Amino acid sequence: MITAAMSTKHKARKGLLFLTLLGVGACNPTAEEVPANTEAPTGRTGMYEASPLAVAMRSMATDMESLRAKADAGTLTVGEVDAMISAHAAMTSADATKPEDIKPSFEGYAEAYLIQLQDLRETITTQASREARLEAFNAALTTCVACHQEHCPGPISRIEKIKVQP
Ligand code: HEC
Repeated sequence: MITAAMSTKHKARKGLLFLTLLGVGACNPTAEEVPANTEAPTGRTGMYEASPLAVAMRSMATDMESLRAKADAGTLTVGEVDAMISAHAAMTSADATKPEDIKPSFEGYAEAYLIQLQDLRETITTQASREARLEAFNAALTTCVACHQEHCPGPISRIEKIKVQP
């Protein structure tokens, strides 16, 4: 799974560059990607109802943002990480805005992210060093970014900002 995801990575980079050049934010499709006869979001203004996956992602982002200070202070608890592991698993079955744009690699990235949260949990239960715990916290965010590079580049800078500088 993860290997398959890696092998498509450089294709994704090109796509990312292309989207960046177009100045597309979040995952709003450009007007030319939307066939006139579908119910797809209209234009580039993002006036559409959030998909279940987008809603799940918003709470993943706010969870991570609200735990950032605790990660930094080294006071993140196992209970808090467990709550994220069970809540964030919803992403694996939530419908996306454009399900046809979800690549086969999605599943591998989702799995990698959840494994990374387990690693973070482990650094707490084993009372690893602050550095090791921060590394695990940041690594979880790196898996968010990896999936986003292929699927949805818009939120990457927001996700990068949640990382804690050691
Ligand atoms: C397995 C792939 C994957 C992972 C891992 C992932 N995302 Fe996403 N994310 C997506 C996709 C796909 C969308 C677009 C959802 C849609 O439009 O239906 C998205 C959308 C978003 C959005 C925009 C939601 C909106 O308002 O439209 C944010 C913010 C976000 N993700 C943050 C995160 C954060 C933070 C993490 C990690 C804690 C994360 N994502 C992990 C694939 C992923």
